[in-house]
Amino acid sequence: MPKVLISDSMSKVAQKIFEKNNISIDVKTGLSEDEIIKIIPEYDGLVVRSATKVTKNIISAAKKLKVIGRAGAGVDNIDIPFAKENNMIVMNTPGGNANATAEHTFALIMSVLRKIPFANETTHKGQWEKKNIKGNELSKKTLGIIGFGNVGVRLSNLVKGFDMKILVNSKSLESRKKDFPHVENVSFDEIINKSDIISFHCKAPKDGKPLITKEHYTNMKPTAYLINAARGNIVDEKDLNNALNENLIAGAAIDVFSKEPAKENILFNNPKVVLTPHIAASTSEASVVVAEMVANQISDFLLKGTKINTV
Ligand code: MLT
Repeated sequence: MPKVLISDSMSKVAQKIFEKNNISIDVKTGLSEDEIIKIIPEYDGLVVRSATKVTKNIISAAKKLKVIGRAGAGVDNIDIPFAKENNMIVMNTPGGNANATAEHTFALIMSVLRKIPFANETTHKGQWEKKNIKGNELSKKTLGIIGFGNVGVRLSNLVKGFDMKILVNSKSLESRKKDFPHVENVSFDEIINKSDIISFHCKAPKDGKPLITKEHYTNMKPTAYLINAARGNIVDEKDLNNALNENLIAGAAIDVFSKEPAKENILFNNPKVVLTPHIAASTSEASVVVAEMVANQISDFLLKGTKINTV
């Protein structure tokens, strides 16, 4: 009977699927790298979310591990090249949390444009800041979406009713353009220059360099907002903080950080920034979907050799 370790907390539905498929399952969360190294030789499959870092040391210690499954989209916590070198396959669950992430992105956009966090905090305190809170509307504005995978596409569909122009920067869009007549594919620089709101929905660059540089901020509209619910290192937080303080852009909303959990960060307490703790994908609905997907995919692979959503 194959044996699988779930090393991050996730919906119990994953465990139930493995049990139904007669796959032996252990759920052990919050383990250190050394603790995982000790037990990993027992397992044929490993299921993670983002907390477990599947390092070279863990992969090297595995004796019979054949598959690593990520309940979620981003696989930057898994050393994929090294896993492949060691004949392991890596799977993720693309699309499983795309709606959740796109809806949270939309919530961030509205929060920062309408100053909801400040309005909420001050109203709770009995301060009546009505005169000091003036928001901005989406109507007639340009939304720039960088990356047009599941989340970017979903966001573009969500905002359809808001009378916005939607610019996209995506290499893969050209071949599927006819499916998305509501967006226009443009260069990165054009998005930077023309957008009122720029939202990142792409992978983090492999070289670790931020996609947006100091110079880009000088080319953005001073009234523009930057949204990042993709990966922290896409945006250099110091450069963003400077751009906000120098009034090069109007505001930002950030769900992902260069270092997570973010216990301290240069953006903390900047009143122009709305922050959330990497929760864009965290909905009851999405957590069930990604757990179901990863458990079914790993079961199918271990029992029948079927490979779905390999990366
Ligand atoms: C993802 O990559 O699926 C999301 O960022 C959610 C997460 O990492 O937990």
